[in-house]
Amino acid sequence: MKRPQAQVAILQAADAQEDRRIDEVAEEAGLVPEAATRAAFELEADGLVTVSEETLEHYDLTEEGERYVRESLPEQDLYEAALDAGADESPVGMGEVIGASGLEGGAVDIALSNFARKGYGQIDSGEITADPDAAPGRDPEMHALEAVADGRAEDADADALDQLERRGLLDISEETVRSVRLTDDGVTALMEGVEVAETVDQLTPELLTSGEWEDVEFTEYNVEADAEDVPHGREHILRQTANRVKDTLVGMGFQEMEGPHVDAQFWINDCLFMPQDHPARTHWDQFALERPDEIHDLPEDLVERVRSAHKNGVGPDGEGYHSPWEESVARGLDLRGHTTSLSMRYLSGHEIGELEPPQRFFSVEKVYRNDTLDPTHLLEFFQIEGWVMAEDLSVRDLMGTFTEFYEQFGITDLEFKPHYNPYTEPSFELFGTHPETGEVVEVGNSGIFRDEVLSPLGVDCDVMAWGLSLERLLMLMYGFEDIRDVHGTLCDLELLRETEVMH
Ligand code: PHE
Repeated sequence: MKRPQAQVAILQAADAQEDRRIDEVAEEAGLVPEAATRAAFELEADGLVTVSEETLEHYDLTEEGERYVRESLPEQDLYEAALDAGADESPVGMGEVIGASGLEGGAVDIALSNFARKGYGQIDSGEITADPDAAPGRDPEMHALEAVADGRAEDADADALDQLERRGLLDISEETVRSVRLTDDGVTALMEGVEVAETVDQLTPELLTSGEWEDVEFTEYNVEADAEDVPHGREHILRQTANRVKDTLVGMGFQEMEGPHVDAQFWINDCLFMPQDHPARTHWDQFALERPDEIHDLPEDLVERVRSAHKNGVGPDGEGYHSPWEESVARGLDLRGHTTSLSMRYLSGHEIGELEPPQRFFSVEKVYRNDTLDPTHLLEFFQIEGWVMAEDLSVRDLMGTFTEFYEQFGITDLEFKPHYNPYTEPSFELFGTHPETGEVVEVGNSGIFRDEVLSPLGVDCDVMAWGLSLERLLMLMYGFEDIRDVHGTLCDLELLRETEVMH
């Protein structure tokens, strides 16, 4: 059998009885580690060796950690000083104990907080009490420090090691070590004899002009081999997913809507039959603009029809809200809290003219809400807005559309829960299951627009509509648990770099 030189070196160095580290084999054979690893994977692909992987943890004391091993932990000093001052009998003033301990500067805070954390005693109203049974001589963190210093990290308590890392006394790093072992086929190959094949890994002008390229053997590409990590810019996964959502919806026959981030409350709320005293319209939920604070180009006739719907309802049995409706409120400018404002603009005929059914429109755009920040809420997020206008739509159509849409992102366990919106009847919230935590996560809100919305807009067929959260879709696709991992300044760069695009 003929093999490239690196492979022959690995085959000869590998053993059938035990794993041999590739980096060691590489050194013996005078190969760079990357070439040895590549050769090992090539041999593995042909069944001649197996490659195993192990993660080694390295423990290194920081300078501060080393100092404490030589001396003692600051909280131990504090405890000793407290005992000497009689704090095991009765509380002693903190100043006195600290003075006697010889602790200075930052070490004082370190001593106090760890003293309290470890229950060496209590610190209350400027006085220290020491627990006579605390025995800081047997402090597990000190033991762990000493074990690491002696190169016996495996003897140390795991919690203590974690704690030391948190305190900045210890650096823990991981190294992936790969090893090879000969398979039976590898042994057979060696016994039958393996020779070095001269392979060419680069096609040069000389090879081409001399015609030699016809006779040489080329090195094969191994697309699975490890390559050097070159950090580079890439499209944010939120943007990638937004684009995928757009492609998917275009593929489902939808057209894209565009419109202002700052809009009149009229489009954001009033067209949606949200009473002007609705709690979602206050500054608790929405951001209002101070300047300019209103717009003046609302379509007169539509304003009139919307006012009438709010006052009297629509149709012979219509019922309006028995609350005030002011045009000045409708003119007020807000950052849109949902992109349903765009749907109103398009459905009204105001954007691209009157629309005849069937029609499908969508947007994937930012919305703004005055929420409290937490792992699932931000002040701004992307909404996947959409609507379908057709004769005779039902809840089945709505569910069918969602099922089809989410399936393209691998989400097949949607759940629907009846809901209330002032503008749709019936309304449904949509839920999916978080792939990591198993929690049921709300991903969107939907429904069929009521007459009180459609009639003033001049639409006389059915319209089903929704607003879905792009970030929540991402959570279900990639298993993120905190929305701040993908948004804003706390974004986890590593995760953004490494998350693979799903197709
Ligand atoms: N505007 C709703 C929201 O932000 C979503 C929605 C749009 C619901 C259209 C029904 C119809 O939650």
